[in-house]
Amino acid sequence: MPERWPFTGRTTELAFIERAMTTRAAAGVAIVGDPGVGKTRLARELVAAAGAGQTTEWVAGLGTVESIPFGAFAHLLTVPRPGAIDALSRYGGMITDIAGRAAGSPLLLVVDDAHLLDDASASLVYELALARAAFIVTTVRANERVPEPISALWREELIDRLELQHLSELDVGLLLERVLGVPVEPATLRRLWAATRGNAMLLHELVLDLLGSGALVAAGRTARLTAPLEVGPRLMEVIEARLRNVTAEERAVLETLAVGEPLGAAMLQRLALPRTVAGLERRGLLEVAGHDGELNVRLAHPLYSEALRTAIPRLAAQEIMRQLAEAVEATGMPRREDLMRVATWRLEARDGASPDLLIAAAWRAHSFLDHVTAERMARAAVEFGGSTAAEVALAEALIGQNRRREAEALLAPLDVLAVDQMTRARIGISRASNLFWGLGRAEEAFQVVRDVHQTLHAPALTNFLQAMEAMLLLFSGRTAEAVELASGPMATGSGPLTYALGSTVSGRTGTASEALDEALAEGRPDQWSFEVVQLQLARWWTFWLAGRIRESEAYAADALADAEARRSAEVAAYYSALLGYSLLLQGRHRSAARRLDVAAETMRRVDRWGLRNVVLGWRAQAAALAGDLEAAERSLNEARAATEPHNRLFSTLVPVAASWVLAARGHLSAAAAAAADAAATAADRGQHGFEMLALLDGVRFGAAGAVTPRLALLGGEVDGELARCAHVFGSALAAGDGGRLDAAAAAFDGAGATLFAAEAAVEAMFAHRRAGDRARAYAARRQAAELAGRCEGALTPMIARLGEEEADPLTGREREIAMLAATGLSSPQVAQSLGLSPRTVDNHLQQVYRKLGVSSRRELSLAFRPASGTAPASLGD
Ligand SMILES: Nc1ncnc2c1ncn2[C@@H]1O[C@H](COP(=O)(O)OP(=O)(O)OP(=O)(O)O)[C@@H](O)[C@H]1O
Ligand SMILES: [Mg+2]
Repeated sequence: MPERWPFTGRTTELAFIERAMTTRAAAGVAIVGDPGVGKTRLARELVAAAGAGQTTEWVAGLGTVESIPFGAFAHLLTVPRPGAIDALSRYGGMITDIAGRAAGSPLLLVVDDAHLLDDASASLVYELALARAAFIVTTVRANERVPEPISALWREELIDRLELQHLSELDVGLLLERVLGVPVEPATLRRLWAATRGNAMLLHELVLDLLGSGALVAAGRTARLTAPLEVGPRLMEVIEARLRNVTAEERAVLETLAVGEPLGAAMLQRLALPRTVAGLERRGLLEVAGHDGELNVRLAHPLYSEALRTAIPRLAAQEIMRQLAEAVEATGMPRREDLMRVATWRLEARDGASPDLLIAAAWRAHSFLDHVTAERMARAAVEFGGSTAAEVALAEALIGQNRRREAEALLAPLDVLAVDQMTRARIGISRASNLFWGLGRAEEAFQVVRDVHQTLHAPALTNFLQAMEAMLLLFSGRTAEAVELASGPMATGSGPLTYALGSTVSGRTGTASEALDEALAEGRPDQWSFEVVQLQLARWWTFWLAGRIRESEAYAADALADAEARRSAEVAAYYSALLGYSLLLQGRHRSAARRLDVAAETMRRVDRWGLRNVVLGWRAQAAALAGDLEAAERSLNEARAATEPHNRLFSTLVPVAASWVLAARGHLSAAAAAAADAAATAADRGQHGFEMLALLDGVRFGAAGAVTPRLALLGGEVDGELARCAHVFGSALAAGDGGRLDAAAAAFDGAGATLFAAEAAVEAMFAHRRAGDRARAYAARRQAAELAGRCEGALTPMIARLGEEEADPLTGREREIAMLAATGLSSPQVAQSLGLSPRTVDNHLQQVYRKLGVSSRRELSLAFRPASGTAPASLGD
């Protein structure tokens, strides 16, 4: 490894300074930034890049306690200058001295660490700038007290100020690749960047430490971390040096933050003297950020807390945790995460962690989907004598980690009659869901719910169990019963979710959206929890089944970003899957495949509702659209293997996906039959939304005549644009009505279902052609090509027919002339704009009329309608 790291990035900064240097608009540039961001290095590179005609000199602030006047300039000042003369002439002489060193060529003077200059030197720098005796590049640490003449430099706008930012993640990646000789694996890069925040100095020391300890390995084709990030000796030295000047009192505050950050500003003030906190903030050692109207304080740098935590003796750390726990408890723990934090501190401090506190914290962690913390809390609760309630919390934590059998082994022997009603209800719900979604034992799940139900009296709790039963019914494909049981006054537990989801799949997305918006409005936005996530997932389906495809995409993308920010791989997987499905309908199958792969990967580990088969089905469908039959079969086989017969809420989506694989193999009638089967199954289950989808696929496989009557009937059951479009598409296709197929294409396009739109346009083209309307056929053809062009090359039976078409019958010149003529230009006007003779234009137009079978300008304009944006307000069905 090179001693000094190769200079990376900073191109705009260098260009900025070099421009200032050539234009001389300013007398210099001050590079201002945090310790270690690379100020000195930037100045050095500038000197290195300076041409031969440029003299450079380097002075540096020394920062010695007894600062020697002109100490920084000692090596540049040849003639001793007794201090008796007045300042002006004294400086005048020095300026001549220094400028004279350049012997006529421009002088570049670097003043490194100007915040450490003695006063005399600082004044000299100021005078040099004022006299324009040199171009001054000076580096200054942010948040440091700066000698007055130096700050005057930018205050009086003598020189420009450049705030030097930390290196970007991209730059860090580049730099490390050059240093290590191999690219850094992305997850490793992200961690290194997050830990150092792109601070060059910290990065330098951290990487050397990690290489030294063997935690960072640069072997093979990438460099990657094989152990957690730890602060090693080099980094510790740098950080300790930065903290050298803090008092014992300040250090105590920093340590408290290192253990407990982020802490509310008010809380921190209570734990320490406000003056101490303010002093630390002023020196840039703390970071204060707003959070819901409250100020949160952390250490300015994640590595500082890491280093401090490493250095705190164990007993001292325990004492800090005890104090933090008390302080947070004293606030009444209003924040959602307070309970978990207090429990964690008490547990680690081995002080005052009661089973009740731990159980409550376990459930709180559970609702944050933090199953590992939940398990730790629940196990501690069991250990401290928390009995059955602790065991149920533990079982739930295990279920969250897909350790289903362990959970059942814990739950099955519990005696529900020996515990309070609340615990009893929890046992019933945990065990039933584990039996149904984890162990494939549907009948027993129902039995458990009913048994426990009978032993409860409090209506709030019986409602809980009833809601659970409704959920089981919904997933058993008994949609109407589920919705019935979940509707009414029962707004407990999973009731609203089941009601809304059941309404959605049965086709009433309007009702469902209202119910969901109401339920979601009740929670505060910061109260993100598993319950909220489930409602949001259901909300996505309402967008989707209503044909609001673009909104569904945006909704899933936002929720995915949110889940990633909260580091919930499980929730991120669900939204990756839904986003993938949104993309699939838009024909963007390659983008969809990427999302679905990510989702499937996580769902092989955690799959709370047993829906991996559906995601894999979609993946197979994406592969089928790409024409990749092998990948399609592979995903489909895995989907089938993962299908559990009792889990029926979404399961018709798998045979629908299978029908697409059949179609990709060219078995169109078999595909249509499979889609019809899936539609019939969905109909039996009351899942009319899914039935409609399968019927729409039937249309797309060429069975419009067979499925249209049912689509017409479904109009009464299934609300939303998608169902309406599906019916128009099917009936127009069955009737060979080109105009309505045009309308269907426009409506699908308006809803964001680009793939369906392209297909409808292809069919419109054939319908117009059969009707002898060559102009409209030509227009539909152009539209189909444009829409299909947005579908990442998706291949469906209908789109394939477009590919079989002969090329555009018009030549390039003919098309150009025809398009201009279609906008209403006369032949002479067209001729003029293209630099042709009117005669040539007329000759070409005659060819166009002949080829398109049109005889007037009006007809011609039909053939050149804009390819999109023709969506009529109403479909007029
Ligand atoms: N752009 C860069 N490319 C490669 N290495 C860099 C870059 N910037 C800084 N470094 C390296 O990072 C370390 C710290 O940089 P530097 O000394 O310039 O920081 P500084 O901002 O001057 O810090 P201080 O405030 O302590 O003076 C040095 O080892 C330097 O070589
Ligand atoms: Mg420096």
